[in-house]
Amino acid sequence: MLISGRGTNLQSIIDAVASGRLDASVVIVISNKSDAPGLLRARDARIETLYLNPRDDRDRDAYDRAIVDALTARRVDVVCLAGFMRRVGRALLDAFPNRILNIHPSLLPAFPGLDAQRQALEHGVRVSGATVHLVTDELDGGPIVLQSAVPVLHDDTVETLSARILVEEHRIYPEAIAIVLAGGWSLRGRRFVPDGVRT
Ligand code: GRF
Repeated sequence: MLISGRGTNLQSIIDAVASGRLDASVVIVISNKSDAPGLLRARDARIETLYLNPRDDRDRDAYDRAIVDALTARRVDVVCLAGFMRRVGRALLDAFPNRILNIHPSLLPAFPGLDAQRQALEHGVRVSGATVHLVTDELDGGPIVLQSAVPVLHDDTVETLSARILVEEHRIYPEAIAIVLAGGWSLRGRRFVPDGVRT
């Protein structure tokens, strides 16, 4: 798992593994911020942590290769971004093709990028939500694995809407990881399709 901050999605995945809802193990948590609270959550769960300082590497490529080296050395199958506030570069994408997941707090393709909940409020949509998608070189633009919708209320603030969406994030991210790990799916164009579905 790659994080930059508080790590509540990381926690939801740790909890899903602990309760048996997700048949997986979190092998390592990597952060680009030394003080990310999510690192403490990982340590509490006795998961290996690694802080990689972006300034130690000459360029983004070198930084991404450092991440790839750490992940391949531990033979991870799937990489999950959970509030990781950096663009994923070519080296990482090529090392884990269609094996990198991200969670985003809007119903993509609406409101990609930063401050998705604020964007949704300011646009005036009546429904927003959360999306888990495969990561490609398009920002928040990869094939969609799962989504969940929530209403946007007239008196919502960024905080109240974010909290409502976060409940759904914590529910669908472990579920999406289980789906991807289980296999039995393929991409048709940009669609994520379970085997056996005729399109
Ligand atoms: C979440 O809202 C997620 O959708 C977005 O960044 C936030 C991370 O929160 N990508 P947390 O660190 O998992 O609590």
